[in-house]
Amino acid sequence: MKNNVFFDKEAEFHIPTYKRLPVIFEKGKDVYLWDSDGKKYIDFIAGLGVVNLGHCHSKVIDAFCLQAQELIHVSNLFYTKPQIKLAERLVKMSLPGGKCFFCNSGAEANEGAIKLARRYGKTHFADERVEIITALRSFHGRTLKTLAATGQPDKQLPFQPLPSGFKHVKFNDISALRQSVDNNTAAVMLEVIQGEGGVYPAEQDYLKEVRRFCDEHQLLLILDEVQTGFGRTGKIFAFQHYGIEPDIISVAKGLGNGLPIGAFIAKKSIADIFNYGDHGSTFGGGPVVCAGALATLTALTDEKLPEKAAKTGAYFKQKLNELAAADTIITDVRGNGLMLGLEIAKQTAPEIVIAMLEQGFIINNIGKNILRFLPPLTIAEKHIDSMLSALTTFLKD
Ligand SMILES: Cc1ncc(COP(=O)(O)O)c(C=O)c1O
Repeated sequence: MKNNVFFDKEAEFHIPTYKRLPVIFEKGKDVYLWDSDGKKYIDFIAGLGVVNLGHCHSKVIDAFCLQAQELIHVSNLFYTKPQIKLAERLVKMSLPGGKCFFCNSGAEANEGAIKLARRYGKTHFADERVEIITALRSFHGRTLKTLAATGQPDKQLPFQPLPSGFKHVKFNDISALRQSVDNNTAAVMLEVIQGEGGVYPAEQDYLKEVRRFCDEHQLLLILDEVQTGFGRTGKIFAFQHYGIEPDIISVAKGLGNGLPIGAFIAKKSIADIFNYGDHGSTFGGGPVVCAGALATLTALTDEKLPEKAAKTGAYFKQKLNELAAADTIITDVRGNGLMLGLEIAKQTAPEIVIAMLEQGFIINNIGKNILRFLPPLTIAEKHIDSMLSALTTFLKD
């Protein structure tokens, strides 16, 4: 897209924390987006792993509009039906028997999960355990507390001093975790696939061992499923690939298919540690977003999107592996379902993203040598084929 008056206005009026790509999107449907010149794109980012059902899903729009005409906001001083219905659905599909709390984003979901774990550690143990162990290369959000949880020193450095109470250990290394635990440790918090860190899945044995270790030492296991949740990896939640159950789960992104909603879900005995006034949110769990999220979860299961993501994701990964085996600069293919990453030997990922955008394909880079794919779960093999035939040009050795 050529220079546009809106690019200049954004530079003048918006705080520049995003290095935006040169395009203004105006319309979306399923896996397609259209810019303000009417050019059509195939979306392999899905709003950063958010619109899992595809853009502007009709059932979500209907639920959202219907609810907006009835009641938009009353605060959490009162009961509203969409919130309670969504709570029941979300808990039953994630941690049956547990309880959830609604907020507005992934960072807030993690803040809530961290607060709950800390309250649990203080209430449950005479020595008041408060510390949380997270992984290096992890990403848990941009608030000060979730930035402190995030295992990426370069993101933390400009904002020191950060809140205390976190230790970071090597991911997929059980002995590093074992060595870091002491009498002050309340919980371990992990992503099942590290997303922003570069698409690194937890190994089967590792996550199982982490669960065993947490049980042995009475530590809570918090899984951050903000990016991996709601079908993205081929199951509703990524932890379901591992035959384990966490104590607390944080979610956001795919829950509302684009509506701003997050939540944390905890086993009942842990959730019940919170008392009146311990946590809250003015907007969290409002009727409109909850109605939209309820419709999202219905469509997700009715359309069997997790199963679809597993199947299409396997096809996609196989094609990426075939490319890696040919004469290309690909050094690694990672991920599960429709959360895939491609590591390349050259520092050209940002340029590849721009070149692909010009050809009508929206892909994402993490740093200079990782390409990431998080398409809507409705993406078809034909879309993958056409995207890869364009991408191949930039991956030749
Ligand atoms: C694993 C994970 N946790 C937390 C967050 C933060 O979510 P939000 O941007 O909605 O605050 C993200 C965002 O990318 C994420 O990928």
